[in-house]
Amino acid sequence: MYRLAVLLSGRGSNFEAILKAIESGFITNGKITVVVSDNRQARGLEIARKHNIEAVFFDPKGKSREEYDRVVVDYLKQRDVDFVLLAGYMRILSEFFVRSFKNRILNIHPALLPSFKGLHAQKQALEKGVKVAGATVHFVTENLDDGPIIVQSVVPVFDDDNEESLSKRILKTEHKIYPYAVKLLVEGKLSLKDGKVYIKDTKKEEFFVSNPAIGGSDGV
Ligand code: GAR
Repeated sequence: MYRLAVLLSGRGSNFEAILKAIESGFITNGKITVVVSDNRQARGLEIARKHNIEAVFFDPKGKSREEYDRVVVDYLKQRDVDFVLLAGYMRILSEFFVRSFKNRILNIHPALLPSFKGLHAQKQALEKGVKVAGATVHFVTENLDDGPIIVQSVVPVFDDDNEESLSKRILKTEHKIYPYAVKLLVEGKLSLKDGKVYIKDTKKEEFFVSNPAIGGSDGV
């Protein structure tokens, strides 16, 4: 059973979706053992406590990026964490953090990467007039919203969309693909080669049928 840490800064709806997927048995080989936040008020911390999951706030005030990350990494190592899941964690990780958990950090971003990195991805997409948008779960590298892509979801963009309506549509799919990516991860189905992710033991046809982001039946 892998030990998962979730890092978040706010609402925590992706964290909640992963938690539900574990509780419902969709994900069987991992459990969330700690939730860490850089925001004392994060709703995600409350959700964790309600579920009896250790939830800690580390204050970033007065610390450099790396100093802060050293505090977090020390804590995660003490807790024997295997994988780190960024779920609305609004800090850029230092090289030190990324190296400490090399190829063991996942992130979700509300855009079809490599387009629209950074803040307000949905607004950036609308400003470009794209006709489809989506979300991406990827392994984290030293570069912001970069790294090998694991799963993506696609949603349409309508003429009368605004940032809120598009974000809502994308978020719904985030709640499907993040648990799915975590499931693949803890089942040992992901392999990395030349900066790309390959999903083991899954024929293309099966992948499309079972991918909850595109309507598969085994979603959560
Ligand atoms: C999600 O839309 C996630 O994709 C985004 O923050 C939101 C967090 O929501 N992350 C990023 O923009 C990372 N670059 P949540 O707290 O309800 O999961």
